[in-house]
Order: sequence, then structure tokens, then C-alpha cells
Amino acid sequence: MTTERSLVLVKPDGFARGLTGEVLRRIEAKGYRLAALAVTTPDTDRLHRHYAEHEGKPFFEPLVAFMSSGPVAAVVIEGERCIEGFRALAGATDPTAALPGTIRGDLGRDWGEKVQKNIVHGSDSPESAEREIGIWFPEL
Ligand code: PPS
Repeated sequence: MTTERSLVLVKPDGFARGLTGEVLRRIEAKGYRLAALAVTTPDTDRLHRHYAEHEGKPFFEPLVAFMSSGPVAAVVIEGERCIEGFRALAGATDPTAALPGTIRGDLGRDWGEKVQKNIVHGSDSPESAEREIGIWFPEL
């Protein structure tokens, strides 16, 4: 089994609510290793690169505006199958539908706003993970 890396973001809603520690606790309790950690307010150039595959979708510009609205915690995690594993920890994209036991299911909800605030991002494939890690941690 190959050790994988994944990029996790605690999005501005999760960071502002003080949920970074809870997200990191769940990652470490699952047994994944923290390989890098940074707090930053991303600029739109970085977010356009990060979300390039979604350019043109109706949520793209609102998502970029939301993601640049405040600090995020960017984290590289490591472990066997951690890409799939973190996405299971995160739960479904829509926090109202996400199952209890997941980060979004336990801690997220719909806030009646246009932008979906769902606490965390996790890479969705090994190719995305390496591309995203290069955007957030070019030194790694
Ligand atoms: S898609 O089109 O099926 O690939 O989209 P999906 O994988 O569900 O979501 C891709 C990322 O876009 C975010 N998203 C949104 N953000 C804000 N508002 C709305 N309405 C919205 N719809 C989708 C979703 O949370 C994913 O972000 P990341 O950061 O990758 O988790």
C-alpha cells in the first residue's frame, strides 16, 4: 500500500468558528500524520488555480469570494488511502445532508446564504492532491 498525501483546508467558516482544532483532532485520531500546516488568507489568484476545474460553474465566483474572505488553515496530511479517508471523515458536500459522525454532518448546516459553507476541503484524487499541495506549499 502506498502512502498518500492530501491537501485539507479548514475553510473561512470553519476557521472563524474555531473548528480548526476539532478538524485536526479528527484527522489525528483517525491515524493520519500532519506533514505541513499554515494559516493564511488566500488571494484570488491562488484560489483560481486551486478551483480551476470548476471555472465557469455558477458557484465558482461566489466560492472564490468566500474562500478569500478570511483566514483558512491549510494542512497536508499523510497516510495510507488518506485521500479517500479524509473525504469520508468530511462527509457529503452539502452539510445538511452529510451524515452524523462526519465533520460536516456533526458541525455544519445551511445558514440560509447563497454560498455553501461546508467547513473543510479535501483533495479528491492523487493527481489533485499533488497539484493542490504545489499551490499551497510550493516548497514541499
Ligand atoms: S461538482 O460540480 O460536482 O464537481 O461540485 P462539487 O464536487 O460538489 O463541489 C466542488 C467544490 O465547490 C464547492 N461548492 C460550492 N461552494 C459554495 N457554494 C455553492 N453553492 C457550492 N457548490 C459547490 C464545494 O464545496 C466544493 O468545494 P471544495 O473546497 O472542493 O470542497
